[in-house]
Amino acid sequence: MELRTITNIDVRGKFVLLRDDFNVQIVDGKITDAFRIQQSMPTIEYLKKSGAKIAICAHLGRPKGTRNIEYSLAPIAEYMKIPLISDCLDKDFMKDMKDGDIVLLENVRFYPGEEANDPAFSAELAKGFDIFVNDAFAVSHRAHASTVGVAEILPSYAGKLLASEISHLSQVMENPKRPLLSIVAGSKVSTKIGVLKALAKLSDKLIIGGALGTTFNYALGGKVGNSLYEADQKDTALEILEYAKQNDCEVLLPLDKGVAKEFTRDAKRANKNFNEIEDDDVIIDAGEETTKRDVEIIRSAATVIWNGTVGMAEWMPTWSYGSFALAKAIAEQTRAGKLESIVGGGDTVAALEACGVKDDITYVSTGGGAFLEFIEGRTLPGIAILEDK
Ligand code: 3PG
Repeated sequence: MELRTITNIDVRGKFVLLRDDFNVQIVDGKITDAFRIQQSMPTIEYLKKSGAKIAICAHLGRPKGTRNIEYSLAPIAEYMKIPLISDCLDKDFMKDMKDGDIVLLENVRFYPGEEANDPAFSAELAKGFDIFVNDAFAVSHRAHASTVGVAEILPSYAGKLLASEISHLSQVMENPKRPLLSIVAGSKVSTKIGVLKALAKLSDKLIIGGALGTTFNYALGGKVGNSLYEADQKDTALEILEYAKQNDCEVLLPLDKGVAKEFTRDAKRANKNFNEIEDDDVIIDAGEETTKRDVEIIRSAATVIWNGTVGMAEWMPTWSYGSFALAKAIAEQTRAGKLESIVGGGDTVAALEACGVKDDITYVSTGGGAFLEFIEGRTLPGIAILEDK
């Protein structure tokens, strides 16, 4: 995939509309994880140094096309120490801008035209700009005005983060060191069918964990008690297992689980395998035997792709046990130079961060849904439009 990138263009004195993904978690007005912002900095700094006049366009949450101050980008502007333009369509700020100046435009999803990819809205948004740069890999699976619409109007290029995401993810998809182990967990089979099939085709081994794994255990007749799982996905789960078999991929399902009588952080933990689970048990984490097996498999892999925590990793320390054990094993092997590790998805990256191993991972993607769609081999509209034809 050949993308038009910003490295060979002259941006001095030009108005650049830069799309970033700053969809970060904010609690009480404070950013709790600035990873996406930090990863966006190389492009921002490069454009600044090159003398561009930069207006960053971003979204936060899903305000559904209305101006809702709860989703304001003000905490992000404060964090970055740059001015916030309170209306993304207001161009007044342009007249005062000097080369290297940066502003942040208020949440582009305050307008319904954004998600509708309305051409009139895109034209308004693009007005006054000379160049469009997309560095928002994490939202490039959405065909919105600020990812696709403006790229149809302005000369458009990929930023450094977007290019780096594509090159790292493509490399692992096209030429992985083997054995390749994929670990997919999370809650819903229905949202991960495509990626499970793609990974079953690509990988030598596939660990399916979390509530996703519970649905597979249920499909094979295991007891799941009062846990989160999708009964209606039984046939899909069986079909995926068959598909993996046909593609010589060994699927590893949970052997046992960390369970409790209530779904709370402080609930008392018991370890049970599937025939011991009672009707009022709730599965909250991977079990000890499963974790031990998974750590062994990680140690024998040359590449790991990981998306989704295998339990409630944020309920530390009782329920983070399984996810943290995987994170630490992956980090340890990567540090030792024995493993290439690719991790994506908000909660998975948060788990890496929480157990202090994020920097050990070969590549941590900023994408959640976009990461999964890319791995699945789908065309991401915000990227396709930047391709050199
Ligand atoms: C993300 O957080 O994955 C992206 O910003 C996309 O957000 P969305 O799912 O609300 O479109």
